[in-house]
Amino acid sequence: MKKQTWLVTGCHTGFGKNLAIFLAQHKDVNLVATARKPESQLNFLDQYDHGQIKKAKLDVTKHDQVVSTVKLVKQAFGGVDVLVNNAGLGYFGTFEESNWKEAHYIFDVDVWGLCDMTRNVLPMMRAQKHGTIVNFSSICGLTGFLSCAYYDGAKHAVEGITKTLAKEVKHLGIKCLLIEPSGFRTDWGGRSSEKTVTKFADYKPVEQAINYMKEHGSDNTPGDPMRAAKIIYDQVTNHWDTLPLHMPLGKAASDEAIAEMENNLKEFKQTRKTSISADHR
Ligand SMILES: NC(=O)c1ccc[n+]([C@@H]2O[C@H](COP(=O)([O-])OP(=O)(O)OC[C@H]3O[C@@H](n4cnc5c(N)ncnc54)[C@H](OP(=O)(O)O)[C@@H]3O)[C@@H](O)[C@H]2O)c1
Repeated sequence: MKKQTWLVTGCHTGFGKNLAIFLAQHKDVNLVATARKPESQLNFLDQYDHGQIKKAKLDVTKHDQVVSTVKLVKQAFGGVDVLVNNAGLGYFGTFEESNWKEAHYIFDVDVWGLCDMTRNVLPMMRAQKHGTIVNFSSICGLTGFLSCAYYDGAKHAVEGITKTLAKEVKHLGIKCLLIEPSGFRTDWGGRSSEKTVTKFADYKPVEQAINYMKEHGSDNTPGDPMRAAKIIYDQVTNHWDTLPLHMPLGKAASDEAIAEMENNLKEFKQTRKTSISADHR
């Protein structure tokens, strides 16, 4: 089988680190692992370096770094077979009280950073007539979680953009995969999520959710990011022909995705008569 070149964003910790470690051990993979400070954040890869691994400095909100990373991959390996848009942040706070700047920054990283990476990689994939774009969404991209309005909004944006992109590039041999995890033991719930404490007594139930995250982060969550890495590799490498668009990861994600879709279906059926009555006769 031809060697596959993977470009993964946000490899310092969590899903990205685990995926980088997993890929680094595969001789059939060229890996470009990226981090905001590669000189200190990607040392864990040094033990695997076998000429097939490159490190790149990449803050996905910095367009010049997006461009230079894509250039580096092209020069080193001639193209990208799999782009993994993993870099992302969380945010906990009520919709009303969340910090405006922080709420915007979530979209800068989780949505616009992902789009910038993808737009810069697509010309190579179109020229090759093949490629896979793996976008990290979340179960929050399918449902709505108390205290996560802006994060949920960002991940819903990732879902919508990816769904349409998948339709636009299908005939070019390019597929998209949405990763929709529930809780996984990474740094996401801790240092990677700002938390704005509620001031208004009206939001007491939300406060409890925020305080829980402040205390525990992602510590007690069931998801194992190395198992996630294996699933992503397996889907993209061994099941590409039947690659799904959606991949909830973790039992909670699977349960919640199914419940959400069943509930939506029930409502769409209930409102059907009214819905169709809005058309010109
Ligand atoms: N863990 C979960 O429960 C969970 C559930 C659903 C979805 N997700 C999604 O999974 C993805 C990975 O998160 P994780 O769980 O692995 O958390 P994590 O351990 O906190 O890793 C997030 C990574 O993103 C990087 N990052 C943050 N801002 C960046 C930027 N502007 N440019 C480039 N990289 C940046 C971080 O780099 P630094 O180390 O430099 O900050 C870090 O390496 C995210 O998209 C997240 O939304 C996580």
